[in-house]
Amino acid sequence: MDPIIALMQGVLDIVRDDNSGSPASYIPELAAVEPDRLGFAVVGPRGHVRSVGDDDVEFTIQSISKPFVLAHVLSRIGLDAVMERVGTEPSGEPFNAISLEEGTGKPANPMVNAGAIATTGLVEGGGVDDRTERIVRTLSAFAGRSLHIDESVYRSESTTGDRNRALGHLMRSYGIVDAPVDVALETYFRQCSIAVTVRDLAVMAGTLAFGGLNPLTHERVVEERVARDVLSIMSSCGMYDFSGEWLLRVGLPAKSGVSGGVLAVAPSQFGVAAYSPRLDRHGNSVRGQAIVTALSDRMGMHLL
Ligand code: DON
Repeated sequence: MDPIIALMQGVLDIVRDDNSGSPASYIPELAAVEPDRLGFAVVGPRGHVRSVGDDDVEFTIQSISKPFVLAHVLSRIGLDAVMERVGTEPSGEPFNAISLEEGTGKPANPMVNAGAIATTGLVEGGGVDDRTERIVRTLSAFAGRSLHIDESVYRSESTTGDRNRALGHLMRSYGIVDAPVDVALETYFRQCSIAVTVRDLAVMAGTLAFGGLNPLTHERVVEERVARDVLSIMSSCGMYDFSGEWLLRVGLPAKSGVSGGVLAVAPSQFGVAAYSPRLDRHGNSVRGQAIVTALSDRMGMHLL
């Protein structure tokens, strides 16, 4: 057996029996998921994707879309213009906190919901369809295949999205969001509802790991500088109010989402992704984090 597959299988076996945590319940469609799903994928510099477990199950990308939409707007308008609207400091608060900078209304960073909504508001285009199409195109280029939106998760997300809408209205009142609130928000809900597998997420992580070059398709998706900026922000803010401890213990830039996906990047070495729907109190996948932690330990991937 391929030694990396054997190692990955070993990691899955270690985490399989941990049934702690529970799937996200604030979006009805996410609560209906099969909680025992477990998948894990890795891609290296030659573009060979290795995966074990439930590697062909689609789930919605949720917050893992945030770094890739950030990469899109950084490519279009540059870091300084993005930073006029969104900060780059860890918030130390939950992902959905109603928390904006006093006086300016600026969200803490692009990885929490407020910052992601502001970032999505910077995507060019007239209406929701136009903007969503650009986002889907960018995320598809990162993944190396055409991605689609899970319409039933989108509807569920939009029906229950009042807290995010409230953040949108607040930020528009400060001029942080220029787009009409419904356009920014529906685009954000649609970006969160893009369906992916762990293999897609590993390739997306790999594209960041290899400086914006997709290891599967060899397409340059973003400039090296953009990939570096995104990874810097993921390092400090990607795991919400667990980001500091995550960097300490695992030592890799990473991003999680409420459907149970998590991806991590070992620069110039690997893109890694895991899927398991049960979440801890920070909204991060319990077994997904355990998988990435075990891999980082076993392969000596801690960057520091
Ligand atoms: O904004 C929301 O509520 C979700 N659609 C995405 C949030 C998310 O994935 C947070 N991650 N842990």
